Amino acid sequence: MSKQKTANSPSISSILRIAGDIDAFAALTDGGKGVTRLAYSRLERAAHEHFANEMTALGLDVTTDAAGNTIAELRPTEQGDLPAIGTGSHLDSVPEGGRFDGIAGVVAAMEVARQVVRDAIPRQRPWRFVVFAAEEGARFGQACNGSRMIAGSTTSRETYELVDDSGTSMAEAMRLVGLRPDDIESARWEAKDWFAFLELHIEQGAVLESRGISIGAVDAISGSTRFSVTVLGQASHTGGTPMHLRRDALVTAAACVTACDALARDPQHHGTRITVGRLTVHPGSITTIPGKVEFTVDIRDVDSQRQRRTAEALGEVFGRIAEEGSTSLVVAVMGDTSPVVLPEWVTRHVIAAANELGLGFLVLPSGASHDSQQVNRIAPTGMIFVPSRHGLSHVPEEFTTSEQIACGTDVLLRAMMRLDGAR
Ligand code: HGY
Ligand code: MN
Ligand code: MN
Repeated sequence: MSKQKTANSPSISSILRIAGDIDAFAALTDGGKGVTRLAYSRLERAAHEHFANEMTALGLDVTTDAAGNTIAELRPTEQGDLPAIGTGSHLDSVPEGGRFDGIAGVVAAMEVARQVVRDAIPRQRPWRFVVFAAEEGARFGQACNGSRMIAGSTTSRETYELVDDSGTSMAEAMRLVGLRPDDIESARWEAKDWFAFLELHIEQGAVLESRGISIGAVDAISGSTRFSVTVLGQASHTGGTPMHLRRDALVTAAACVTACDALARDPQHHGTRITVGRLTVHPGSITTIPGKVEFTVDIRDVDSQRQRRTAEALGEVFGRIAEEGSTSLVVAVMGDTSPVVLPEWVTRHVIAAANELGLGFLVLPSGASHDSQQVNRIAPTGMIFVPSRHGLSHVPEEFTTSEQIACGTDVLLRAMMRLDGAR
């Protein structure tokens, strides 16, 4: 469903503040191309600190929980004890990522907080502005860690089992930046404390841009099943080993990679996306046959059953390929999150807000995963998308204009005002 209308353009001052915030967060990176600010790194905590300082200066009450989520609260202006509404996103990135993934939603939340305080907008509910920790799965394999902890989907024990490729566990990384992996129970949110939550995010796809539409109202968020695969063959001399005596781990891995691509392109899997994003060859010498190969598989789908069926099918196909190549392989699940359909009544407030502002909108699913998937287990959640230039994301070329984010922010504020008064 979509509507093309003339748009109310956001104020210049709002656009400039948003551009300034984007630049401030982008400066917190460990150098190299794009932005690298990994989950549970000192840089991620520095970004949370910047958010906390800005919100404290605005007069909000700011806390950081044991999981590293930072929450700023504006108390209601009216008497009463109604459950809260909230908005927010994440500030960590993938390696050599972009300046907008997650950050756009945090910057929009900050701008909403500023406008609510500046214009003394009346509030019947507490309004909470949240930065979730460790949303990206790039470091530890599992995504949405801070939001999983508020939802009770990740326990302390798991933080010891999730490790990055240097062998550092999530628990160790959390402790190194002053967080408390053994106390994440205390970070749990109670459903009774929440009325609704909204997350603004860049689309990370090209649908809005290709249709010339400013606002996306998300109806469903893809799930993801991720696993690591280790193929074991026999390393040996590339000259002395005849072809019929080889157990080449890379030949097996290469057949697995093309099998992933073929399965995702099968018409019965329309909507499934499968990616091998990382592949390491051992010993990686020009004159030695690869004896071991490690690679990762990322399966995305909006259909839960098909997502799991795909994971099973790949396990069987990989086994057959390994047998044919006289190699063996081990598949370990790194993370598994179901797709979610977001509650339509919350999305209706997003659509109504876009309509009130005369902004074109489109209802669409999210190909990427988001904290909202976890938050929705506790508080009915909606998502607002703003366009991504050429649909690029998780790369330095990721781009959305400050005006597009300011448009989304106007919709976010308007939708939150509607939710504040809703029952
Ligand atoms: O990987 C994702 O889908 C998200 O960007 N964390
Ligand atoms: Mn994101
Ligand atoms: Mn991301």
